[in-house]
Amino acid sequence: MKIAILGGTGRIGEGLATRWATRHNIYIGSRDVEKAKNAACGYSCRLTDQGFECQIDGTSNKEAVEKADVAVLSVPFEAALDLIECLRPVLKNQILISLVVPMKKENGSFEYTPPEEGCAALRIQHLLPGVKVVSAYHNLSYRKLCKIDLDIDADVAICSDNEDAKQVVMDLTREIRNVRPLDGGPLKEARMIESLTPFLINMAKRNGLSDLGVKFV
Ligand SMILES: NC(=O)c1ccc[n+]([C@@H]2O[C@H](COP(=O)([O-])OP(=O)(O)OC[C@H]3O[C@@H](n4cnc5c(N)ncnc54)[C@H](OP(=O)(O)O)[C@@H]3O)[C@@H](O)[C@H]2O)c1
Repeated sequence: MKIAILGGTGRIGEGLATRWATRHNIYIGSRDVEKAKNAACGYSCRLTDQGFECQIDGTSNKEAVEKADVAVLSVPFEAALDLIECLRPVLKNQILISLVVPMKKENGSFEYTPPEEGCAALRIQHLLPGVKVVSAYHNLSYRKLCKIDLDIDADVAICSDNEDAKQVVMDLTREIRNVRPLDGGPLKEARMIESLTPFLINMAKRNGLSDLGVKFV
C-alpha cells in the first residue's frame, strides 16, 4: 500500500512512518520538500541500521497525497484545516486518517477544544464531503511508536462512516506491534476518543507518569 504521512516530519508522523515502512511505500509530506527528504532519509537510516528494509521518500504534502492510497493527517488542528484547503483538489479516492486533537494549554493543563461540528474528524469530513475520513491513533504516544521494537500494548478505537475504509485502517493498525484495533463506530464517536488525549496528558503529569495509552478490559 502507498501511505502518505502529511506533516510526516513531526513526532507522531515519524512513529507511524517507521512502524509501517517495512511493509508499505511511505511518502513523508511537508510544506518544505527538503525537510521531507531529510526526514525520510533519517527514518530510512534508522530502520536500515536496525536491519530492516524499507521504502520511505520525502516530498510535498500535495504530491504525497497524489501518490497515496491512504493519507494520514498528522499536523496540529489549526494547520490541518489550512492544509485540507490546499489538498482539496487532490483528495479523491484516498482514505484520510485523522489523528488530530484540537486542544489548548491553559494554566498548565490541556483542554479539549472541539470545533462546532463536535470534533476534529467531523469538521474534516464536513470540509471534505465524499472523502473517506477515518479517525484513529489519538491516544498513542509518539515516543512509544518511535521505538519500533516496543510492544505498545494498547487499544486504538477506530471511527468512520465508511465501513470499508475503517477495515483498511483496522488492518494497518494490527501491523503495529501489540496494538489492538477496535471498531469505535461512526465518525461522530471520535469526539470521545479525541477528548481523551488532553485528559491522558494531564493525568500523566499529575501522577508523575508519561506516555499513557488506553486499553479496554
Ligand atoms: N505527538 C503525539 O504523541 C500525538 C499522539 C496522537 C495524536 N497526535 C496528533 O497528531 C497531530 C500531529 O502531532 P505531532 O505531535 O506530530 O505534531 P508536530 O510534531 O508539532 O507537527 C507535525 C508537523 O505538522 C506540520 N505543521 C506544523 N504547523 C503547520 C502548519 N501551520 N501548516 C501545515 N503543516 C504544519 C509540520 O510539518 P512541516 O513543517 O514539515 O510542514 C510538523 O512537522 C496533532 O494534531 C496531534 O494532536 C499527536
